[in-house]
Amino acid sequence: MSPSFHIAIDGPVAAGKGTVSRLVANRLGFVYIDTGAMYRTAALLAQRRGVSLDELERVTELVKQARIDVRQPRDDEQDGRLSTVTLDDEDVSWQIRTLEIGTASSQVGEMKPVRAELVRKQQQIAVDKNVIMEGRDITYRVLPDADVKIYLTASEVVRAKRRHQQLLAKGIDTSFDEVYQQLMDRDQRDTSRAADPLQIVDEAWVVDTTDLTIDQVVTIITSRVQAMIDQHRHHA
Ligand code: DC
Repeated sequence: MSPSFHIAIDGPVAAGKGTVSRLVANRLGFVYIDTGAMYRTAALLAQRRGVSLDELERVTELVKQARIDVRQPRDDEQDGRLSTVTLDDEDVSWQIRTLEIGTASSQVGEMKPVRAELVRKQQQIAVDKNVIMEGRDITYRVLPDADVKIYLTASEVVRAKRRHQQLLAKGIDTSFDEVYQQLMDRDQRDTSRAADPLQIVDEAWVVDTTDLTIDQVVTIITSRVQAMIDQHRHHA
């Protein structure tokens, strides 16, 4: 087995990638990396600086100069977050979780030079580490040699319901229809953009979570990965 084990997960909006990845990472002792958080932080940065998302070069420059980091929450940061995300050392973990930033991050995801910058960062983080990394281009662009490639999905209505519940729980007042429409628009943009669109690679293991509980999904994935690790050890 290579010194590090990489699990790559791609999937549409609100498929449960974050929740599942965090729990699988905890069970296996892996590092969890939320790449969507980086695109969201880039969008927040542009918004704060008053830079329009039509201005590709200016947004790219902002992202190049900023320090965007994603890490495991510390003991004093356990407030339900799955990751701690910092922008120039400021904790923006919750500020990036709004519908507005969701839409803006999808627009940032269309920008090729921004992608190049963030992909490089993500690849650096994964070097020599056991990671579970999730996003839209992980299985074929960021970690094309990943040991396990998963496409995590669920029906549109179930995904919209889950995301609506998440937002309400955070005190963000929004209607189901608004969440559903935003989810459809974002999926449409993420799958049809020219630069590295979301896609199901040939070798992907497609996990449909529509009728599964979180615990069932986590167990299915953890068992398969553990079996692979054990097999590698056995043959080593
Ligand atoms: O996973 P998320 O919903 O937090 O991602 C926010 C947006 O960022 C998503 O709509 C598209 C973009 N993104 C991307 O283009 N590539 C990734 N690897 C992760 C996210």
